[in-house]
Amino acid sequence: MTQNPAPATTTATEGNTPPATPWWRDAVIYQIYVRSFADSDGDGIGDLRGARRRLPYLAELGVDAVWLTPFYASPQADGGYDVADYRAVDPLFGGLQDADDLVREAHRLGLRVIVDIVPNHTSDRHAWFREALAEGPGGAARARYHFRPGRGADGELPPNDWESVFGGPAWTRTGGADGEWYLHLFAPEQPDLNWENPEVAAEFESILRFWLDLGVDGFRVDVAHGMVKAPGLPDIGRKEQAKLIGAQVLPFFDQDGVHAIHRSWRRLLDSYDGGRIGVAEAWAPTPERLALYVRPDELHQAFNFHFLTCPWDAAAMRAVIDESLASTGSVGAPATWVLSNHDVVRHTTRYGGGERGTRRARAAALLMLALPGSAYVYQGEELGLPEVVDLPDAVRQDPAFFRGDGQEGTRDGCRVPIPWEGAEAPYGFGPAGSWLPQPAEWRHLSVAAQSGDPRSTLELYRSALALRRRLPGLGDGPMSWHATGDGDAGVPEGVLAFSRPGFACTLNTLGIEVELTVPGRPVLATAPLEFTGGTVRLPAETCVWWEV
Ligand code: GLC
Ligand code: MG
Repeated sequence: MTQNPAPATTTATEGNTPPATPWWRDAVIYQIYVRSFADSDGDGIGDLRGARRRLPYLAELGVDAVWLTPFYASPQADGGYDVADYRAVDPLFGGLQDADDLVREAHRLGLRVIVDIVPNHTSDRHAWFREALAEGPGGAARARYHFRPGRGADGELPPNDWESVFGGPAWTRTGGADGEWYLHLFAPEQPDLNWENPEVAAEFESILRFWLDLGVDGFRVDVAHGMVKAPGLPDIGRKEQAKLIGAQVLPFFDQDGVHAIHRSWRRLLDSYDGGRIGVAEAWAPTPERLALYVRPDELHQAFNFHFLTCPWDAAAMRAVIDESLASTGSVGAPATWVLSNHDVVRHTTRYGGGERGTRRARAAALLMLALPGSAYVYQGEELGLPEVVDLPDAVRQDPAFFRGDGQEGTRDGCRVPIPWEGAEAPYGFGPAGSWLPQPAEWRHLSVAAQSGDPRSTLELYRSALALRRRLPGLGDGPMSWHATGDGDAGVPEGVLAFSRPGFACTLNTLGIEVELTVPGRPVLATAPLEFTGGTVRLPAETCVWWEV
């Protein structure tokens, strides 16, 4: 058992009766992709002990919590998102004691800990699935998954036309004489659970309790939009279904039925003390549908992937921000901003790569951290790491890469172990080697190389996070846009400018500098500034924070 960090709320310092803000409404949460964060034992794979030793770095960086990607017993067909035993730590990452030690140490340092939970599917090595295969059609063990006879004269065709997110059909035929097929929205090693079966819900409730009792502060709910499938598993009627994810409701994604599960999980979380939370990984077609996951009796947060996928364009960014704030606000939830994670191309590269990508990424980070709500930082983004785009095929591990079929399989490029120090790989990641090769240029991007250099991206994040704690107008609370257009107070097209209490943020998205009326005293900028009288020249693709 571990103690939760106190206090469970942060107290606003402004006003006569300071309202207590639940910690998660404005928390900055750092995503640790465990296998690529820090390796303690020299097998080239990051682990829980490695992560624990590096926690002081995160406390000093100024984040409030960490989210750990799955470290459970797993054959690693999908980087641990194929769980064989939800109550055990995979020997690759350590043991249960290491998980306990990590949670304890994080709490000692004032950091909360969120763990990943994977309820949509198990591993094909999970005891339940093995039992289901052994048992044959019609039995209770198969009823925990989606088994169906095939179509065609001999059942040689899949039961419907659904495609796996990783490419190819979403169905695999069992080798047994019965020849049934089972559903897997992801890899064949990840059979989908049947959440209509009460045994499944009961088992997950027990798993959640197991980790809550150990002291974790919450769960990142993997594929929170996928657990319930449309009755009858109807055909979709078109190919390339992966392109529809997040664009429309599908018979396997964003079904209304998932919300009953999230409600029951919320009740469970609320029955524990210390502000335990659930954050949804939900690819919903619109901000309005995403907001359904964070209604007051559902999960606390949902990653805002509309912000993540937004192009570098002031009008588009402003529209996404407005829609997100309006939709989460309509249900009383905070917005949850995110620019990168272990499934997408790192944003320095998405924004064009090279110097320009870095400039934009730094500016986007200040924008994100100035917006109302909570924010997630993916390990290495604070170092400005780019996507590694030239990994040799021989080292790739992403199942999407192997399933081909027009899928890009780029997810290994954002999972390369991060550089800590030193002139040679693995740059302090561990005593020997790293499971994916690190580029030679990363010696200039290591934590040690950037520390103390005021122009570095690491110091930018450190300063931003320190200011976020110091300035009461940041985090949860109101924001208002400055008027756009010509005239004294108007900000030019291509510039985003907004105020929060005692604070202003200005972002020039354009490739040229613009002139602006000085809105206050600059406290942080992603590039050096020039002043002439009451105006400031805001360099291209630069964000500035002002104290007003
Ligand atoms: C989520 C995870 C991703 C994983 C998938 C299947 O999208 O973030 O990494 O492959 O779920 O579990
Ligand atoms: Mg290791």
